[in-house]
Amino acid sequence: MIQKIDKTVEFLKSKIDYVPEIAIILGSGLGKLADLIEDAKIIPYEEIPNFPRTTVAGHEGKLIFGTIKNRRVVAMKGRFHYYEGNEMDSVVYPIRVFRRLGIGNLIVTNAAGGINTGFKPGDLMLITDHISLFCENPLRGENINDLGPRFPDMTVAYDKNLRALALESAGKLGIDLKSGIYSYCKGPSYESPAEIRALRNMGADAVGMSTVPETIVARHMGMRVLGISCITNMAAGILDQPLNHEEVMETGKQAEKKFSELVCAIIENWR
Ligand code: HPA
Repeated sequence: MIQKIDKTVEFLKSKIDYVPEIAIILGSGLGKLADLIEDAKIIPYEEIPNFPRTTVAGHEGKLIFGTIKNRRVVAMKGRFHYYEGNEMDSVVYPIRVFRRLGIGNLIVTNAAGGINTGFKPGDLMLITDHISLFCENPLRGENINDLGPRFPDMTVAYDKNLRALALESAGKLGIDLKSGIYSYCKGPSYESPAEIRALRNMGADAVGMSTVPETIVARHMGMRVLGISCITNMAAGILDQPLNHEEVMETGKQAEKKFSELVCAIIENWR
């Protein structure tokens, strides 16, 4: 695995002569932030040795290296989901590549269904913690000691200082950034109303089909993680209406400007 990762890392090093400070995973419908990256160097996934491929509608597949507010970043436009049939190793592969490249910070974003009835579609939610119980653990199998420990701690998966920075940045921009617990579900079917009630009783504020595997692997390797969800719809059964992917993408699009402003402000003041 390490050799496979390092082959990818060597390729990226041959294309880019710096190590970004922050890696950003852009969630469904939140790809516009990529347009704000200056001096962009775009590398399609299919050109990168050992990199997986994307399939889901609304997801492209490219790495964008460059700067935001004079900070060096790399953004993933298009991520790998478990529901697409990817093995967990593929889902988290880019995170391992980023870490081996020398990147210490990860911003992970997603579209999520709102479970907390204080939320409304279009809201942004700072992830304070997650529920991974329905997620196959990406660290299952022999531990790769060169990457991290067998039993990594998840007490503070989402960095406290970065959370404070996000709230402060939102406040300055007048964005009402909610906070809450993100629960993973495997998808691709949306959850049933009974599942959403169960998740609410477990303490979840939002639900989605990504982010948790990437966060676990990032924490395994000691990266600092900041997570932001865009609440694109209320979760199943909360409103008397069915869910559909188009609605999710459309709400994502409407919130994109606010989302991009927030992430740019966070990056500007990164500490
Ligand atoms: N459930 C799971 N994943 C999602 C949802 C949802 O309601 N909305 C956007 N991603």
